[in-house]
Amino acid sequence: MNATALRLDVADRLAVITFDQPGSKANTLGLAVLGEFEQVVGQLDKMSGLDGVVLQSGKPGMFIAGADLRELATVRDEATSRMLVKRGLDMIGRLEQLPCPTVALVDGACMGGGLEVALAFDYRLAGSNPKTELGLPEVKVGLIPGWGGTQRLTRLIGPSQAAELICAGEAVNPRRARELGLVFDAVPSDKLLDEAKRLIAWSRQSGDWREARRRKQQPVGLSEDQLAFTYGVARAQVLAKTKGQFPAPIAALDAIVMGCNLPLDDALKAESDLFVPLVGSLISRNLIAVFFMNQRLAKDTGVADATLQPKQLQRVGVIGAGIMGAGIAGAHIRRGAPALMLDVAQPALDKGVAAIHKSLQGRVEIGRMTPAELLKALSLLNTTQNLGMLSDRDLVIEAVVENEAVKTKLYRDLHAIVADDAILASNTSTISITRMAQAWKNPAQFAGLHFFNPVDRMQLVEVIRGEQTSDQTVVTLVAHAKRVGKSPIVVRDCPGFLVNRILFPYMNEAYALLEEGASPRDLDRAATEFGMPMGPITLSDVVGLDTALYAGMVVNTAFAGRSKSTRIVGELVKAGRLGQKSGAGFYSYAKGSRGIDDPALAGFLEKCRSGQRGFTEEELTDRMFLPMLVEASLVLMENIVRDPADVDLGLILGIGFPAFRGGLLRWADSEGLDTILQRLAKYEPLGKRFAATPQMKQLAQAGKGFYPSS
Ligand code: NAI
Repeated sequence: MNATALRLDVADRLAVITFDQPGSKANTLGLAVLGEFEQVVGQLDKMSGLDGVVLQSGKPGMFIAGADLRELATVRDEATSRMLVKRGLDMIGRLEQLPCPTVALVDGACMGGGLEVALAFDYRLAGSNPKTELGLPEVKVGLIPGWGGTQRLTRLIGPSQAAELICAGEAVNPRRARELGLVFDAVPSDKLLDEAKRLIAWSRQSGDWREARRRKQQPVGLSEDQLAFTYGVARAQVLAKTKGQFPAPIAALDAIVMGCNLPLDDALKAESDLFVPLVGSLISRNLIAVFFMNQRLAKDTGVADATLQPKQLQRVGVIGAGIMGAGIAGAHIRRGAPALMLDVAQPALDKGVAAIHKSLQGRVEIGRMTPAELLKALSLLNTTQNLGMLSDRDLVIEAVVENEAVKTKLYRDLHAIVADDAILASNTSTISITRMAQAWKNPAQFAGLHFFNPVDRMQLVEVIRGEQTSDQTVVTLVAHAKRVGKSPIVVRDCPGFLVNRILFPYMNEAYALLEEGASPRDLDRAATEFGMPMGPITLSDVVGLDTALYAGMVVNTAFAGRSKSTRIVGELVKAGRLGQKSGAGFYSYAKGSRGIDDPALAGFLEKCRSGQRGFTEEELTDRMFLPMLVEASLVLMENIVRDPADVDLGLILGIGFPAFRGGLLRWADSEGLDTILQRLAKYEPLGKRFAATPQMKQLAQAGKGFYPSS
């Protein structure tokens, strides 16, 4: 046969299918591969006297990664969607009907469509490769496991466990898979084939495989009450998490509930009816685009020269044991990288160590870390007050107070201590990297390394290159940030860097709207309905109004020509209302409340208000998000980042911009730039922040978007 991805070997009455997609690290199920599976199944159907069939992967650490997402993202019509769904379902259905016991040897990642294929086998054995995990993460790309996954998993492990796995989209390890009954057993990788042979022999003798197949075809048979309960709980959990903005998990639940009491064939039809409209839907295409943005970022070295190798950094020093310094040191030791944390004050060091301990202990409590791993991590942490201890460091990350004079004095003090070939990186959020580099003996080895707060939860790190930062420094910092579990995006130095530069026009517009008469709650609601995790007013309170005021000032002053000045935040800060941390900001946090309306706010608003009119939600949304978009376009025009995906992913990872919209620029593309231009024109009299950029005009004229493919 012509198969290139699949090989079929038959020996001693055992057929072994080996899946090894050429030229790729992953095995994926695209149309061409489905065609090959169909051929192989056709051959197996014709063979008589087989004892069993086994499916394995030829790639270490990888069973099947899932369906080919690029293919799924190109679907634009229901007929194509239905064809794709049916093609997979039919092939999987034929695998399920092979006339002898079948075993899938899962040694490595077995995700999505890959698990759906494995579920067609009578048995699954999991191998001990550390990369072995099984999951149905389809909801993360706006889909459901629609090649039978919602039905076969439900029949195998029960509806509530299946609903949990599918709606969360999280994978399980072999141990958990065995507990759930998702795999028959977990065995050492090199024993998989032998175990499969034994399992086949036993199953033939006992007839277990026939019984398992018969059960699979039947309805699960739950009472209406049981179903209503499972569904009610799961639905409430999903809605709480997704705020109703993702249709996929609800569709998956519907499929489980509808299919539960039907024979498999009918259940699969119900599943398809729910799956087909999701394939190629805008949300799914956006989430798939974000998936590929993440993949691109994971491979990005940060520089154009592909031959440049990062320097291995063994010894890291972190200066400052405050919120950020402790977070950064904690991120290092959690990933097995030793860190020396320095502060001028012993109490600050004690507090920093306690904060790190608490954060790691939290991981132990949720089962993400064992107590032994916690102890090991803590053993990698050292503290000092003595600058001289930094003399052997390859990387020093500075996270002291946000004061340029303090920082540059510290750099000068470090000249004679830190080695000439070491890198010095600042975690500053507002100060110019190019300017501060002048205070370092070797500006080529100076850069920004901007972590986000809280460091243990925020994946994004901006690697900021000053005018003189070398490629070697950038490539090394990018690799290092990945080593400590972060997603680094390289940004050219500019006020606000990438994320804050684009965030502040949005925050500022919210303050402007407040002063024109909008209510804080309406603004927050408009933003969260758009998909933001919290609205701009709540966010200001959470970040701290003093911080928001200061950082906003830096960005607004730098871009004074287009930024609108507002007074409300300054007034609140003057009155000591700093947000959550001081018990009151825009909202009140008295007695630990989560932000309730505060009658005292009216007086401050009164003082700053220029108007008192009502706004439609559409107006609020456009007013907040369009200035952001204009700024993002300017960022691209100024080559602050190298790719539109850097903007989109930066905002998704840095401020929780809704991934289901694909990011800010993809959102604009899906609205259509000509429409965006019309909407901007409506607000242009308000100021330059609503003026379409030359880039936007050019793209709109050419009928294009920020992304070439959209
Ligand atoms: P912090 O005030 O919590 O901690 C600063 C620490 O630096 C204090 O423990 C202080 O004792 C120590 N320190 C001051 N001068 C020092 C010196 N000369 N040598 C050694 N230690 C010294 O401040 P935070 O929030 O951790 O911020 C640190 C840096 O990170 C700032 O540049 C800030 O702009 C930046 N940043 C802060 C974020 C946040 O949300 N807090 C987010 C991202 C960046």
